[in-house]
Amino acid sequence: MATNITWHPSLSREERSSFTKQKGLTLWFTGLSASGKSTIATALEQHLLHKGVTSYRLDGDNVRFGLNKDLGFSEKDRNENIRRIAEVSKLFADASVVSITSFISPYRKDRDSARELHDKDGIPFVEVYVDVPIEVAEARDPKGLYKKARAGLIPEFTGISAPYEAPEKAEIHLHADKFSVEEGVQLITDYLVEKGLVTLQ
Ligand SMILES: Nc1ncnc2c1ncn2[C@@H]1O[C@H](COP(=O)(O)OP(=O)(O)OP(=O)(O)O)[C@@H](O)[C@H]1O
Ligand SMILES: [Mg+2]
Repeated sequence: MATNITWHPSLSREERSSFTKQKGLTLWFTGLSASGKSTIATALEQHLLHKGVTSYRLDGDNVRFGLNKDLGFSEKDRNENIRRIAEVSKLFADASVVSITSFISPYRKDRDSARELHDKDGIPFVEVYVDVPIEVAEARDPKGLYKKARAGLIPEFTGISAPYEAPEKAEIHLHADKFSVEEGVQLITDYLVEKGLVTLQ
């Protein structure tokens, strides 16, 4: 633990936003594997960029290739995974980027900690529950993970051998088995515009 450290202040977030002409926020996607988090997050990121809004996606697998390559999938490692992502996403949001995270993030406690971290600094945090029944996710199985998990080859697989705690107060509840990817993107964009969180060009 570092003790001899002092926070070095910079521009206020408002001052920074006046230069970058946009506000930062975190859009926190959560849902089962294969629910569509990465697919929708990628489409949303591109849509926002096309509309002149700087947006960046932090994705589960991608982050595990680098920043979090020392972490596995035990509950403790998943907690640490989410803690680091929340901190990184908050930094992006502080830099006035629309930061989109797509991680299963199965534990409510971890998502609530991510939210609190943002709340205490007044950075908007929008939880997006990408909801599909497990049967739908398992039928999609784009990475063949459910098949492996059923065969006992992946321990602690969310929805099969590890819990998924569904959000109770997500700002956006997206039924990704009923809406297309494009409709999902539109729904989220409409929410952001309506709440004054983004301005499209
Ligand atoms: N309406 C929809 N929204 C999102 N994805 C859909 C939809 N309909 C079908 N799909 C398909 O479902 C799959 C979702 O996979 P994706 O990798 O996005 O899931 P994920 O939630 O990111 O999973 P993981 O947690 O394993 O990374 C893709 O193959 C996608 O094409
Ligand atoms: Mg994904």
